[in-house]
Amino acid sequence: MKKILITGGAGFIGSHVVRRMVNNYPQYEIVNLDALTYAGNLANLADLEDKSNYRFVKMDITNAVDINQLFKTEDFDAVIHLAAESHVDRSITNPLAFVMTNVIGTVNLLNAAREYWKDNYVAKRFYHVSTDEVYGALGETGMFTESTAYDPHSPYSASKASSDHFVRAYHDTYGLDVVISNCSNNYGSHHFPEKLIPLAINNIKNNRAVPVYGKGENVRDWLWVEDHARAIDVIFHQAKSGETYNIGGHNEWKNIDLIHLLCRIMDRKLGREAGESAKLITFVTDRAGHDLRYAIDSTKLQKELGWVPSLQFEEGLEKTVDWYLDNEEWLNNVTSGHYQAYYANQYKGR
Ligand code: NAD
Ligand code: DAU
Repeated sequence: MKKILITGGAGFIGSHVVRRMVNNYPQYEIVNLDALTYAGNLANLADLEDKSNYRFVKMDITNAVDINQLFKTEDFDAVIHLAAESHVDRSITNPLAFVMTNVIGTVNLLNAAREYWKDNYVAKRFYHVSTDEVYGALGETGMFTESTAYDPHSPYSASKASSDHFVRAYHDTYGLDVVISNCSNNYGSHHFPEKLIPLAINNIKNNRAVPVYGKGENVRDWLWVEDHARAIDVIFHQAKSGETYNIGGHNEWKNIDLIHLLCRIMDRKLGREAGESAKLITFVTDRAGHDLRYAIDSTKLQKELGWVPSLQFEEGLEKTVDWYLDNEEWLNNVTSGHYQAYYANQYKGR
C-alpha cells in the first residue's frame, strides 16, 4: 500500500498519469492535488470519480501553509509533481506567474517533503516532471542528452530549469530521494487548445485561421501522452535516487509539415475536399525567443529501463483528432469564457 500525491493531475499530462496510476495500481491510494487554474479541468478525470483509491484535493502549491498542513495530516509515501504553468506564450506575457508556481510552488513541496519525511527519507520518493526546454535550442543537428548543459530561453523554461536545480539541490544537500525526467512535446486527448495541435484542430473544425509562427520552420519532437505517462510509471518505480531520464518520441516534425498532415486528416474526417483545410494556414508574427529545434535522445531510458514509444505519429494524430471530434462538449466548454479573451489578446495584430 502506498499513498501517492500527484500534483497537477487535472491538467493534460497529469490526468493521464493519475488515470494510469489509479487503474494499474489498485493497491495505491492516489491523491490528486490541483489548484484548477484555467488549465485544470476535473472533467478530464470524470471516469475516476467512483474509484475508491482516488481522491481530489483543491489546493494551490504556492500556499506553503496549506501544503505543510497537508503533508502533516497525510503520510505520503511519494510525490509525482506535475503542477505547473506550462504555456510558453503565457510566460512571455506574465513571467511572474511562472516563477510563483514553477519555482516557489516546487520549493514549497520540497520543503514539506524535507520536513515531514526527514525521519524516513529512504522510504520516500519525490519525482519531478520536467521538460526538454531546459536544454535550450538545437541547430539543424544533434540531440539533447541527460548531460546537455542547461540553457533555457523563455521565462517558462527558465522557471522549469530553476525548479530542476532546486530538486537536485535537495537531493545533494538534504539527501531527499529525487528523480527527474525531461520530456519532449506531448500530444493526445485532453490537451488544452492553447497549444499548437489542439488549437489547430479546434480552428480547422470551426473554419478559423490556423496561426503558424514565423515560417513554420521550428522543429518539435512529438510524443503520445500515454507513452509519457508510461515512462513516468517506469521511472517512478525503477529509477535510482538522484537519476535523470530524458523522454522523447524520436519523432521530429517541422511545424508546417505537422500542420499540413493535420489538415489532410481533418479534410478526411470532416468530409472536406482535399486541400480545403490547408487554406486556413496563416503565417503570423513569430514567438519572441522562439527555440528553433528540440530533439531528445532517450537512449538511457530505453537501455536502462526498457521503455520505448508505442505509437507511430500518424496513428496517434488520427486518434487525437478522433477524440476531439467525439468530445465536442469538452472542447466547447474549455474554449468558451476566458479562452475567448485569451485568444483575442494572444493573436491580435500578429
Ligand atoms: P497543463 O497546463 O495542462 O496542466 C497543469 C496543471 O497544473 C493544471 O491542472 C493546473 O490547474 C495545475 N496548476 C497550475 N498551477 C498550479 C498551482 N499553483 N497549484 C496547483 N496546481 C496548479 O500542463 P501539462 O502540459 O499537463 O504539463 C504538466 C507538466 O509536464 C508540467 O510540469 C510541464 O512543465 C511538464 N511537461 C509538459 C510537456 C507538454 O508537452 N505538455 C512536455 C514536457 C513536460
Ligand atoms: O518541449 C516540451 C514543451 O512542449 C513543454 O514543456 C511545454 O509545456 C509545452 O507547451 C510544449 O512547448 P512548445 O512551446 O513547444 O508547445 P506549443 O504547442 O506552444 O508550440 C509548438 C510549436 O508550434 C512551437 O514551435 C510554437 C508553434 N506554434 C504554437 C502555437 C500555440 C505556432 O506556430 N502557432 C501557435 O498558435
